[in-house]
Amino acid sequence: MKLHPSARALRGKLRVPGDKSISHRAVFLGALSKGVTEVSGFLYGADCLATIDCFRRLGVRIEDARRKTDGAQVLQIEGKGIFALDTPFGELNAGNSGTTARLLTGILAAQAFTSIVTGDASLCSRPMKRVTEPLSQMGAVMESVNGNDCCPLRIHGTRLHAADLRLPVASAQVKSALLFAALYADAPTTVRETLPSRDHTERMLKHFGADLVIQDEPAVSPCAKSIRLTPGALLRAQKIHVPADLSSAAFLMAAAVLVPESEVLFREVGINPTRTGFLHVLEAYGADTEMSNIRDTTEPYADILVRSSKLVCPEGRLVIEGEIIPTLIDELPVIAVLAAFAEGETVIKQAGELRVKESDRISLLVRNLREMGADVEETMDGMVIRGGTTLHGAHIKTHGDHRIAMGFAVAALAAEGDTVLEDDACIAVSYPDFFKDLALLS
Ligand code: S3P
Repeated sequence: MKLHPSARALRGKLRVPGDKSISHRAVFLGALSKGVTEVSGFLYGADCLATIDCFRRLGVRIEDARRKTDGAQVLQIEGKGIFALDTPFGELNAGNSGTTARLLTGILAAQAFTSIVTGDASLCSRPMKRVTEPLSQMGAVMESVNGNDCCPLRIHGTRLHAADLRLPVASAQVKSALLFAALYADAPTTVRETLPSRDHTERMLKHFGADLVIQDEPAVSPCAKSIRLTPGALLRAQKIHVPADLSSAAFLMAAAVLVPESEVLFREVGINPTRTGFLHVLEAYGADTEMSNIRDTTEPYADILVRSSKLVCPEGRLVIEGEIIPTLIDELPVIAVLAAFAEGETVIKQAGELRVKESDRISLLVRNLREMGADVEETMDGMVIRGGTTLHGAHIKTHGDHRIAMGFAVAALAAEGDTVLEDDACIAVSYPDFFKDLALLS
């Protein structure tokens, strides 16, 4: 796809698609509860459709509401309860979705059947030991079919027992897999995290009726937490409203910041504090943003107005590291792009997790930013970007990674000359209408 610099300001109001993490979890919990769960604002992106497909193969009836003519795009899930999933027909294919694959392991480990979880080439090269290892401490029996600790995974369902587990990495996917497995354990299980990762699973488990107690662990670190799940509570179907995904909005927010004279109101954006690191970075750069209309349901959300702004690192240097990293992990591609336009030096540290996302985002970001003329240095666990120079159009490699593609589509709007995106189809993973929405605003 060929992209031109933006000739016009971005203006208007927009509700970007539903939150990907929350949409996945709505299907998981809807499937495991009793009754019909209704989900409004669901993200019909390729990743969440993979989750739906997997649960259909496990015998759960899910009505995709997109074809309805009454405008009510509510997804309906006929829950089967935690013990009534069917032996799946064929492999469970999570496509490009790490969330689908990792969360499923926690449930499949406890079923009365053997199943196989697989995915596309990118997913099949991502580490699964981070879930299989702690699950094996609960008695789970699973093996990597190719012996490389990646998918495909063959999971032999068995009886799980309780455990006290500390997360090996700050990962909501691992935490969620363990909490799902804990629903099936023979006694209460405790999952401990040192750095806070997104807490959508905890919020939703409570909302559906699970017995969950969350406590701070100040003796471990100021933000450490323990989550104790006692099995046995009946999960009951709920109505879920999925807020707009801040991780998707971030790309268009960045575009609004970079393209002169822009002013865009992003409606109903999720502002769960475990996800809002991107907004703090915008603030640190001095971007002109304003939050209003804050609403608090199971998940908080608000309207966010973003105007074009000059970006400057506070006192010449912005260091992004430590506990903020998990709260903006998916936004680092677009933050790296913003950093190239911001005056001063941006240092991204302790973000080694970026190397095992849908692509090695550190090396790909550095490669593409350099192609566009940015001054950037790669480090083991991040990068250093000396920003403020003009970027020029370039040939961008995406390696099929949706967030790399959208990040550089944004860079292209504010660069000089045309940019070619090697593959833009991957954007359908999380934001199928990205270019349509961009066109609407411009
Ligand atoms: C997600 C958790 C994060 C994030 C991913 C979605 C989730 O991954 O990067 O896009 O929905 O739980 P990790 O758990 O690997 O940090």
